[in-house]
Amino acid sequence: MERKRQRFNKVVLVPLPLQGHITPMLQLGTILHSKGFSITVIHTKFNSPDPSKYPEFSFLSIPDNLSDQVISSGNIISLIFEINMNCQAPFLECLVRMTEQQKLYDEIACIIYDELMYFSDTAVARMKLPSITFCTTSAATFNARLDLLQLKEEGYLPFQDAALQDLVPGLHPLRFKDLPLSRFGATEDLFQLMSNLKARKTSSALVINTVDILEKSLLLQVQQQVQGPVFPIGPLHLVAPDSSSSLLEEDGSCITWLDKQNRNSVIYVSLGSLVLVEENEVAEMAWGLANSKQPFLWVIRPGLVINSQRKELLPEGFQETVGENGCIVKWAPQKEVLAHDSVGGFWTHCGWNSTMESLSQGVPMICRPSSGDQRVNARHISHVWRVGLEVNDKLERVEIERAVRRLMGAKEGGEMRQRAINLKEKIELCIGEGGSSYNSSSELEKLIISFTP
Ligand code: UDX
Repeated sequence: MERKRQRFNKVVLVPLPLQGHITPMLQLGTILHSKGFSITVIHTKFNSPDPSKYPEFSFLSIPDNLSDQVISSGNIISLIFEINMNCQAPFLECLVRMTEQQKLYDEIACIIYDELMYFSDTAVARMKLPSITFCTTSAATFNARLDLLQLKEEGYLPFQDAALQDLVPGLHPLRFKDLPLSRFGATEDLFQLMSNLKARKTSSALVINTVDILEKSLLLQVQQQVQGPVFPIGPLHLVAPDSSSSLLEEDGSCITWLDKQNRNSVIYVSLGSLVLVEENEVAEMAWGLANSKQPFLWVIRPGLVINSQRKELLPEGFQETVGENGCIVKWAPQKEVLAHDSVGGFWTHCGWNSTMESLSQGVPMICRPSSGDQRVNARHISHVWRVGLEVNDKLERVEIERAVRRLMGAKEGGEMRQRAINLKEKIELCIGEGGSSYNSSSELEKLIISFTP
């Protein structure tokens, strides 16, 4: 009886319209739906999710009026500002319409919004609705982002190149180069964004896509920064494995290619959905991979290369050199790839989803972060969990070849693989019955039920 009543209470989700944020939010929706809540996703027109992949959810689109300039600029902070400026009024109107139309047992139980969609805060306060913030990054990043403001006040930011390798006071093991700055550095708009994040007031709790076993002490620090409970319920992709929220079409042919490779022999290369590289860096990556002689699966997504007019991005002679030893796709079914027996290493930009996906399959990594939280994650992968190695910011073929050999080799790579497998086993325990993520998820369910009349 209790269950049936819950089904009619709605949880409204507000994802940031970027791949690395839509995916975990919809995974969270899948978990809450399995617990009996009905799910409504309020989303922008830009990068709108495909409702046909989630027939049990309702989807409501709000206008975002994003300028072509901000969409094509690759400047994520400007994009976030514009979304927050343009969506506040339409979001409020949407909530008003929903509450006017709602029937008994169909009330909104709460709004769960991506922390970067902070415009939601004002609307939910106006409507007196309960809300929960959702953080799609690690606890380490959550803390480091808030600390940026203090570092600025204390005069540590912006910093000189000479300080890149120095440890940041109070943020062990992060060096200044690991701080979650944008690709444009410690800019004023980054600090403005951090202040906006800090100003959140209404939220009753924080859901975070991480695992206690990975970030126990950092989660205690998160708890000191927020009001209400913190629920580390990740890795969400393991708890909600069936849903696919890819904005690009996945090319499954690479799985057939992986089937033909030896166990643990393939290095998988993907820099996520946002990282940009220069044309010459593609050539360095290509020859580094080719020279390593290791089989590779490489994702070259549309738009990866900055300002490239060229149709053929790969250097001349490269395809002939690698032949069947390499497979290149525009977008891969990444979770399936990382779970494949042939994949023995992952060269990653260290986006948090990619990091969690790799950790939960016991796959060691080559870390080549670009900006933001990727730098924090890379430092933790290489120096805290010790399941990956760092390469220089400047991509050079000789160094890439060396890194691939180290990672895929028996000695150093073997040790990292063993540590990664140990972590994978611990993570699995966290999501199983009685595990930390399992328990957090139950507590979250109870909190949402407590909001309902
Ligand atoms: C962005 C930021 O870069 C990242 O640092 C932040 O943590 C989240 O937002 P993104 O760059 O896309 O995300 O990286 P990531 O978090 O790793 O998410 C990428 C997602 O795309 C992963 O879930 C991955 O499985 C998926 N993916 C990637 C594919 O399905 N196929 C691919 O070929 C590549």
